[in-house]
Amino acid sequence: MRQKIVAGNWKMNKTLDEALALASEVSNMVKDEVNTDVQVILAPSFISLTAVGKLIEGQKRLALAAQNCHHKTSGAYTGEVSVDMLKSIGVSFVIIGHSERRMYFNETNEQLAEKTNLLLQNNIRPIFCCGESLEQREKGIHIDFVKQQLTESLFHLDTNQLQKVVIAYEPIWAIGTGKTASTEQAQEMHEVIRKHIASKYGEAAAAEVSILYGGSCNPTNAPELFACKDVDGGLIGGASLKSRDFVSIVKSFS
Ligand code: G3P
Repeated sequence: MRQKIVAGNWKMNKTLDEALALASEVSNMVKDEVNTDVQVILAPSFISLTAVGKLIEGQKRLALAAQNCHHKTSGAYTGEVSVDMLKSIGVSFVIIGHSERRMYFNETNEQLAEKTNLLLQNNIRPIFCCGESLEQREKGIHIDFVKQQLTESLFHLDTNQLQKVVIAYEPIWAIGTGKTASTEQAQEMHEVIRKHIASKYGEAAAAEVSILYGGSCNPTNAPELFACKDVDGGLIGGASLKSRDFVSIVKSFS
């Protein structure tokens, strides 16, 4: 089901106390909002998930996400966290395939297909990240590259499963750089993603998929980005670490 979504990816920031303070500020700032259909997602680091989950419990507008999960069910994977573990603490979404994990931890499209399967089997919604590097864009291969990410990680799913996946288009060159994609660039790639999904699952199914933009999204540029036809919200990094900025982005839908 297509939703307006704003998710805060806190990455490797915030100690437990800092995470609880931020979550509490955001919770207080959004809970009194009425007449809004925006799903707000908080993605703290693993150490804060349980406590933040308890703090936001019962607030239907707020959902809890992990920033990753392992692609195997359990076993000798020191330091890793399984989908079962995340399910046991009430996680509703998990960010997978973030470019930083693909880069630093060599995550493959095949592993992401396994993560997607495990999450859907446990009724947890993947937030599947895709996006090209500056080099790929300058070479003009960015569209094929992003299509391949979707095809190799998601196109084994049936229609019902696919519609549970939230897609996050995050051009790598825009992440943490302050160089946000223009509305034309964002809309172009979101339309490419939606049409690629439609080529496999049909236009009606593709129209139901939520596609978020990520990459230096902030309170100033969020309104014009979110006004794009195929942009359904944002996956926010730096600007999610300040409650006022994050909630301003949440309120950016026209
Ligand atoms: O996952 C969202 C993140 O990669 C975007 O980061 O700091 O450019 O908003 P930022």
